[in-house]
Amino acid sequence: MKRDYGIDIWGDNNFIIKDSTVNINYKKQPSLLEITQTIREQGYKGPVLLRFPHLIKKQISTLYKEFNRAREEFDYKGKFQAVFPLKVNQFPNFINSLMDVSKSYNYGLEAGSKAELLIAMTHTPVGNPITVNGFKDKEMISLCFIASNMGHNLTITIEGLGELETIIQVKKEFNQEKENPIIPRIGVRIRLHSGGIGIWAKSGGYSSKFGLTSTELLEAYDLMKKNRLLNQLWMIHFHIGSQMSEIAPLKKALREAGNIYADLKNRGAFALNAINIGGGLAVEYSQHKNAKELNYALSEFANDVVFFIKEIAKNKNIKEPDIFTESGRFIASSHSVLIAPVLELFSQDYHEKSLRLKKSNPPLISELNDLWHALNRENAREYLHDAIDHLESLLTLFDLGYIDLEDRSNTEILVHLIIKKSIFLLQSEGTEELKKLQQKIQERYLVNFSAFQSLPDFWGLGQHFPVMPIDKLDIEASNPATLWDITCDSDGEIAFNENLPLYLHDVDVNKNEYFLAFFLTGAYQEVLGMKHNLFTHPTEVIVDFDENGNYILKKLIESQNIMDVLEDMDYDKNYLDKKIKQLIEVSTLITLSEKQELLGKLYLYLSENSYLKTIQANNKE
Ligand SMILES: Cc1ncc(COP(=O)(O)O)c(C=O)c1O
Repeated sequence: MKRDYGIDIWGDNNFIIKDSTVNINYKKQPSLLEITQTIREQGYKGPVLLRFPHLIKKQISTLYKEFNRAREEFDYKGKFQAVFPLKVNQFPNFINSLMDVSKSYNYGLEAGSKAELLIAMTHTPVGNPITVNGFKDKEMISLCFIASNMGHNLTITIEGLGELETIIQVKKEFNQEKENPIIPRIGVRIRLHSGGIGIWAKSGGYSSKFGLTSTELLEAYDLMKKNRLLNQLWMIHFHIGSQMSEIAPLKKALREAGNIYADLKNRGAFALNAINIGGGLAVEYSQHKNAKELNYALSEFANDVVFFIKEIAKNKNIKEPDIFTESGRFIASSHSVLIAPVLELFSQDYHEKSLRLKKSNPPLISELNDLWHALNRENAREYLHDAIDHLESLLTLFDLGYIDLEDRSNTEILVHLIIKKSIFLLQSEGTEELKKLQQKIQERYLVNFSAFQSLPDFWGLGQHFPVMPIDKLDIEASNPATLWDITCDSDGEIAFNENLPLYLHDVDVNKNEYFLAFFLTGAYQEVLGMKHNLFTHPTEVIVDFDENGNYILKKLIESQNIMDVLEDMDYDKNYLDKKIKQLIEVSTLITLSEKQELLGKLYLYLSENSYLKTIQANNKE
């Protein structure tokens, strides 16, 4: 049975399996293997992050297309507009690609800090929307005023009454002598009763960190009226939490937000003209039909947003507002794929060739050996039970000192081989007993990446990311696997259980390279990634396509070298450099020419990135 790793569940037609490899379903459909090998031939080792701008474009155009279809279908008069929340991925290779592919969409950026605001000011075309969320001090609000004075179409979303008071103060300072002062547009984030759903649900709901309660909203309204700012109040905003797996919370939130909008508008907030629904549009990360994360599609999401707001506008007799979204995960996740080489398979020791059978073995071991050789489809279940029983007895014999270490090793290998072969022979039965046994013989794949750096949401929240080999897909993968990263931390293990297993190939990585690809890593993972053990952002490259449909690699940035990693941690690079030189120079253990040779080696290693090259003498990595 060939495995497709659920590519039709999470893949969205972006990747296809062609013969033995995973290929990009675009233009000339190159394989991920071919791209990876091209990069490695140039000398780049360790994990590589591939970015695909055509997939960013696909997500943006799908978002606009679906909302505009829903607008047409419901004859909705308000416009649809979108901004990208920078917190989701601020890396320049991503943001530059994003702005490049979104040129025809009046697409903008959302900022949540001063540094993000600077990115938004410098990367959003003047006139396209910028929204500024999160907590703000006077300097940040002043930066918003500066951006507006540059001509940017910027909306400050106030998260609390204090921010509004600061806006009033900054307005005075900026416009003391002006007749027509330039002031940013104002939005208010509302604190809804309705919360989201799933692991990121707490961004919404009454106890959430952000937004104004009804009482505060009324106070804000009065304050704006008093300070002649009502003409700037044009947007209300909410966000009920990322990765909203079910549609029901959105419907509730829309009813609540729509009525708040209508009430403020009818109360006298005459300039109000937009509802910003934040993010939350989810992504299917599951590789198994029985573990799908989403119960809706984008079309339903867009229909609900447009329909609910239209109904409220009709009932409350107000103009249909513009609809804004700040979808981040939906736009960014699919654009990047992390490719990581497998460095070692740990239970390869349980191989027939490792057996050290003696001329005369303890009777139970001889029996195990006979079981192993006579195993077939008919006797598999019975022999399996016998083998497990013998294992217990032999381990007891070892504890009591009756058999030696070689006997114990032979026992472990033979039982492992019998379980593995029995599971293979009986796989069509899929019983609970077999599933449990699979756990016992899971193969541990050591993968050249850091889960902390590249999949922090797996580490922190247990979020699953689709993973599969990029080659050998014409061969059945029969090893139930667990993945180990190269950090010295037992949390850096991605385990798979018997209900949602990952099967990988039985490979000898000394002979052939074997790569795993982690998909949907483009949202949040890069920037939340930690430098645990000082493994930093992997080597990255943009994969673009030329007019003939051939792929081209652009803007390759290698993962930081060891010295730069340490400098980033505020170590003094000069001191480190001097100290290692000095330690070699003063060593009395080696000759002068050996010293020179060591220095040469040392500098070569320090100029390379911190991921592993190999853990075995003749390994390809
Ligand atoms: C205010 C705001 N808007 C948008 C987003 C993006 O959400 P998502 O990535 O789920 O689309 C977030 C994420 O937390 C947010 O806080």
